[in-house]
Amino acid sequence: MSAEALLERELEHFEREHPRSRELAEEAKGPLLSGVPMPWMIRWPGGFPVFAAEAHGARFTDVDGHEYVDFCLGDTAAMTGHSPDPTVRALREQAAKGITLMLPSEDALWVGRELTRRFGLARWQFALTATDANRFAIRLARELTGRPKILVFNWCYHGSVDETVATLRNGAVVAREGNVGPPVPLDETTRVVEWNDPEGLERELAHGDVACVLAEPALTNIGIVLAEPGFHDVLRASTRDTGTLLIIDETHTICAGPGGYTAAYGLEPDLLTIGKPIAGGIPAAAYGFSAEVAERLEALLPADERADVGGIGGTVAANVLSLAVTRATLAEVLTEEAFERMIALGERFERGVAEAIERHGLPWHVTRLGCRVEYLFRPERPRTGSEAAAGGNALLDRLIHLYALNRGILLTPFHNMALMSPATTEEDVDRHTAVFNDAAGELA
Ligand SMILES: Cc1ncc(COP(=O)(O)O)c(C=O)c1O
Repeated sequence: MSAEALLERELEHFEREHPRSRELAEEAKGPLLSGVPMPWMIRWPGGFPVFAAEAHGARFTDVDGHEYVDFCLGDTAAMTGHSPDPTVRALREQAAKGITLMLPSEDALWVGRELTRRFGLARWQFALTATDANRFAIRLARELTGRPKILVFNWCYHGSVDETVATLRNGAVVAREGNVGPPVPLDETTRVVEWNDPEGLERELAHGDVACVLAEPALTNIGIVLAEPGFHDVLRASTRDTGTLLIIDETHTICAGPGGYTAAYGLEPDLLTIGKPIAGGIPAAAYGFSAEVAERLEALLPADERADVGGIGGTVAANVLSLAVTRATLAEVLTEEAFERMIALGERFERGVAEAIERHGLPWHVTRLGCRVEYLFRPERPRTGSEAAAGGNALLDRLIHLYALNRGILLTPFHNMALMSPATTEEDVDRHTAVFNDAAGELA
């Protein structure tokens, strides 16, 4: 059957099977802008989002009584699995003893030490979202270097940080299509180069006006685009040579292991940012500094009543609740043993998809980074964000998401991406493999 005809069939099935979600989506047009709590939620593939009822471990149910295996896991924020016991216990206990005080608690020290043990950076600060951690890291990098611009890789995503929602069009830096309300033209704030382009990187850094490079260690937001051998060496050497700070954003690449890609591949960033899953989905994020950068910052930043008048942290960041929950989540949920299991499940997922692609002779491929797996509807692995973007297939993306959803499987929106949690089982993975195999068979 053609992809168009299949999509038609799947849309009908989705509408028929989700009457309550549909009803709620209609009602939501009253109180909510565009009928959704966040703008991008209009992009779910069925035309309206499934309304969630409950979630536990790697599964959730919707208001129409369907159960799903969740491979989206809140796009990594619930990579711990939903509501893991240690996280919920810490949440309950701490919530009864205070939520936010503008005072530190001992948990902040524990979490700081643990992040140092995992990622190697010497000192830490806390925020509530990875977006904010990136914003604050950029501000501090500008303060330290006295330089105005930042450099990002084409088709990156680092949250709604104004400077980063930029792309290259005919060599010029412009706002990404669909970006909302950029404060200034993006070529005033941002340099953009292709991932895996060492010459482009060196050329742009040579201008001497870049405060920091903000990079995921592998692109994960235009599908997974891994670093080619040697690219990280060039990235580190060229940032050092030009006095540019290197910020590694581990928010998604924590999938590579308990210390993210940085620990798994021995990176040496000046700053590191992370958010999403570190508190099991309760808002919490952190940004860390190498010993050298921390020393330079402590020497530079005012230590009197002028300290942080701009309120880099914000009043509710580093609250005692999110730190207690981060502590429990890191200590008892996102453990080394959990990652071993999750990565083995990622390998099983990858194998299942690769075999189905091969069996049906489709010109597609599958890529994995730790416990994150993704398939793209093109034969070769992309080397750059542009190649990955050009290889996108909106029709097939929509179809595969809906096909999976109609069979009780939630994939990460905007990608064909799946994440394993400590609660995910081999049966969950095999269920996806069977559904993917059926879809591939119908499309072949
Ligand atoms: C690499 C990366 N950094 C930062 C963010 C922003 O995270 P949040 O939306 O939780 O602030 C995202 C979100 O997808 C991300 O993928």
